[in-house]
Amino acid sequence: MLEQLSVLPPDPILGLAAACRADPNPDKIDLTVGVYMDEDGICPVFEAVKKAQAALVAEEVTKAYLPAAGDEAYLTGMKSLVFGDDLAGDGSRITAVQTPGGCGALRIASEVLAAASPDATVWVSNPTWPVHIPLMGSVGLKFATYSYYDPASHGVAFSGMVDDLKGAKAGDVVLLHGCCHNPSGADLTLEQWSVIADMAIAQGFTVLVDLAYQGMGQGLAEDVAGLRLLASRLGELIVAASCSKNLGLYRERTGVALFYGKDTQIAAATQSHGLGAARRVYSMPPAHGALVAGRVLSTPELRASWEAELSQICRRMILLRTQLSDKLSAKTDRDFSFIAKENGMFSFLGLSVEQAQGLRKDRGLYMLDSSRVNVAALNDRNMDIVVDAVASVL
Ligand code: LMR
Repeated sequence: MLEQLSVLPPDPILGLAAACRADPNPDKIDLTVGVYMDEDGICPVFEAVKKAQAALVAEEVTKAYLPAAGDEAYLTGMKSLVFGDDLAGDGSRITAVQTPGGCGALRIASEVLAAASPDATVWVSNPTWPVHIPLMGSVGLKFATYSYYDPASHGVAFSGMVDDLKGAKAGDVVLLHGCCHNPSGADLTLEQWSVIADMAIAQGFTVLVDLAYQGMGQGLAEDVAGLRLLASRLGELIVAASCSKNLGLYRERTGVALFYGKDTQIAAATQSHGLGAARRVYSMPPAHGALVAGRVLSTPELRASWEAELSQICRRMILLRTQLSDKLSAKTDRDFSFIAKENGMFSFLGLSVEQAQGLRKDRGLYMLDSSRVNVAALNDRNMDIVVDAVASVL
């Protein structure tokens, strides 16, 4: 039977990272996958994570399954991290399902949305993370796109977005990036979130927020100001959150699907659908990352250490953006100041596919074909090399 299969094209992100790993060029530079790298080119383990992990290993007496919904300390910690204590309250109106990474959270959220609204169209930004459509589409949801990034102004095409979203109906789902838009780095202002809230109330659509970068843009609270505004105004919001980046737990696959509902009865029904979906897809969530995250979030000393380290990372990424923007503007006749105005790891450099591919072939500089770069992989050693290479094709 398997001879029926033909080889699929490589993943547009992971395929390029693999190609970079396989490239024998000693001077290659990998700006593909969204992973934070420190000045030494290492994706570091947070000090608080190391301590929580050591304590867990010392105390561990069993590898029995976690409860199907996940670890209580983790779920409580994530409800309050995302929604804040005021909105989260005693947590009873929020259904939380611990998931294998942010992808698992998107999948569980999609399954629940498909059960609640089988004919839903999911509205995704143009462009969006390339996994959104295949991932959510595997549940059977349909898609439409809304304008989001304007390559000419290097910013959010907000009037186009509003025009397109006028087509979103009651029962539809609008997928927003909570912060640090992937792939563009261009985020909505709080006023723009408020306009979307007005539209959701008037048109009756539901909002799903993909929150993969909380704390990597402007700060832990700043990065969720928009989604909190939606939750408080709409009374209903779904969030797929990931701890890959902000707790550096990438390989531990630590995420959570959060359903901010109108009351505890709705929460109970939502929970049953979330757990049913989890059982169908993977049964029980992986434990390690969530136990670590739960301990960091709930232990004051570890939490303070984590927040301080995350804030340093955030400030360093902001500095890298300013440096890249200044150096590229100085070396070329283009204005790259937009890079310093964006948030998080990603930016489009505005190169053509041919230019991006040429840099890969001729200089060993790996970025996505769309010219999305991971700014968080730059450092003092590779910054000027990247700037020279990009300037050479402009
Ligand atoms: C990215 O966009 O590079 C990250 O979200 C990693 C991934 O899984 O694609």
